[in-house]
Amino acid sequence: MCGIIGVVGASDTLATLLEGLERLEYRGYDSAGVALSGAGGTWRARAAAGTESVLALKLECEDAPTGFRTGLGHTRWATHGAPEAINAHPHLDCAGNIAIIHNGIIENHGELQEELESRGHVFTSVTDSEVLAHLIEEARAAGQDLTEAVRTSLLTVRGAFALAALDATEPDVIVAARRVSPLVVGTAPGVTYLASDVPAILDKASAFYAVNDDEIVRLGPEGFRAIDLEGAPVRLRPLSIDWDLETAQKGGYDDFMTKEINEQPDALRATLLDRRHRDNVITFDEMSLSDDELRDVTRIVLVAAGTSYHAALVAKYAIERWARVSCEVDISSEYRYRDPVVEIGTLVIGVSQSGETIDTIQATREAQRRGAHVVAVSNVVDSSLAREANAVIYTRAGLEVSVASTKAFVAQVAALELFALRLAQLRGTLPERDVEALYLGLQAVGAQVAVALSRRDDVTAVADALAGARDFFFLGRHVGFPTALEGALKFKELTYLHAEGYPAGELKHGPLALIEPGVVVVVVATDPSVHEKILSNISEVKARGASVVAVATDDDETISSVADFILRVPATEPMFSPMIDIVPLQIFAYATARGLHHNVDRPRNLAKTVTVE
Ligand code: F6R
Repeated sequence: MCGIIGVVGASDTLATLLEGLERLEYRGYDSAGVALSGAGGTWRARAAAGTESVLALKLECEDAPTGFRTGLGHTRWATHGAPEAINAHPHLDCAGNIAIIHNGIIENHGELQEELESRGHVFTSVTDSEVLAHLIEEARAAGQDLTEAVRTSLLTVRGAFALAALDATEPDVIVAARRVSPLVVGTAPGVTYLASDVPAILDKASAFYAVNDDEIVRLGPEGFRAIDLEGAPVRLRPLSIDWDLETAQKGGYDDFMTKEINEQPDALRATLLDRRHRDNVITFDEMSLSDDELRDVTRIVLVAAGTSYHAALVAKYAIERWARVSCEVDISSEYRYRDPVVEIGTLVIGVSQSGETIDTIQATREAQRRGAHVVAVSNVVDSSLAREANAVIYTRAGLEVSVASTKAFVAQVAALELFALRLAQLRGTLPERDVEALYLGLQAVGAQVAVALSRRDDVTAVADALAGARDFFFLGRHVGFPTALEGALKFKELTYLHAEGYPAGELKHGPLALIEPGVVVVVVATDPSVHEKILSNISEVKARGASVVAVATDDDETISSVADFILRVPATEPMFSPMIDIVPLQIFAYATARGLHHNVDRPRNLAKTVTVE
């Protein structure tokens, strides 16, 4: 989620780092920092100023000493610890010679920090990353060179990382490593670069190489060499890059929406990482409500807007099924004005990607005023919603640029379903073996989303075949209903065509009158428990001349006899299906909108964050 850059051998080290950080700000930008290193020592500057953090960092760097040829830069999108200057990277070891930058999450940072502190290390930040600086410091003190120190340190950490380290006592060297989070190396005569993303070094390097998982790279002015975690030499994969800056910032995709749709497996992985501690207890480190407070909850009310509201609707099914707590979901702008009942034991959860949607903030304020505990589910660390709530759960989808929300939805569903499992554990409403099976099933959803993504061309072909249609209904039952609502929302906001999401069983109570030849009905038909009923609903609309597109699982043989078009998805536990089934619906909306030549990243009349009521 964060952006990282490194350079060895440059004459304009600081300028290269600052320019690279500016080009990485689209990845997130709550704080930024640089470290410069040479035989004289390590110099560091950091700044936290929200969207202006690189600008603020430039001011901090006005008095920077000159002559350094090695440096690291980092722009942060907080996951652990508030977005304040003390938590900005680079982090230093106790002596101030070693500097590290890190993108990702160190899962076992708590235990490692305890051990390091017991051996005398002093921590100065509230981040999971700082442990890396101290681990490397110990390994260097034991006589290992920087490469070996990074390698042996990584043997003790769990989690995801793209990291880079430098040490003033071993000048002109950067050592970097990757697991999960991206990392590229770039070379030019006499200078070697490192970055989380190509845009940072696009106009500097002439050749690019990808670092693979569990590879460690030592960069010097004359080039680089790579090893694996066992220390055996490996070759980095050359990348052929012919992008301009804008394309590079979109990760080579045509637009941010495609990039973000494709980032969904990563968003899920990051959101679910580091959520289970000893004895298989599901834990949200950032959430400050005690187990007793959670156990005492008798009713849950989720408030949210738009896509976040749909994620909250999915959560209601999981919370009631698994934790047996009565749960309702309200549109934020309605909750506030309906004189809501808040009793002892009512927990209100505000769900918001931005954490700045005023309707949701006002709804949670109203709940707090009436005495409710409020939990925020936010994708932005320290957002207004998160700050005002009694407790917070962060989704870690990374910065979402496209106005239409995609990866935030799957991350919200995953976080809320994990919360439902935690409640079930606390209340003893599910046998522990079921919690275990569901927890493992949730971890596998990212891979199933990746399969759904790989079928993009099939979905685009269906969108092309239906290009002339102007009226769309999206139907579903059980958790397929919120999925249908979200599919319809994506479709209408991107295509500007009429699209209505409906519970399939409710159609016959009115809207069926609108079904006629030319209308397209998209049906989410993946849930076995309601499959027969869905087939009947399909027959009802087919009989009135509608064209039917069905989202169906790979093993569903009956669907081909009733649907005109089928969007296949991998089968999963029904409660997880919204995260997978939404993928073809996002692509369907996207492909239709592109066919109509609309700007998919910025649909008309809409803003990414709605701060007016
Ligand atoms: C739809 C969309 C909006 C947002 C809504 C809430 O694609 O993006 O409907 O979901 O404005 O925003 P957050 O989640 O930031 O509160």
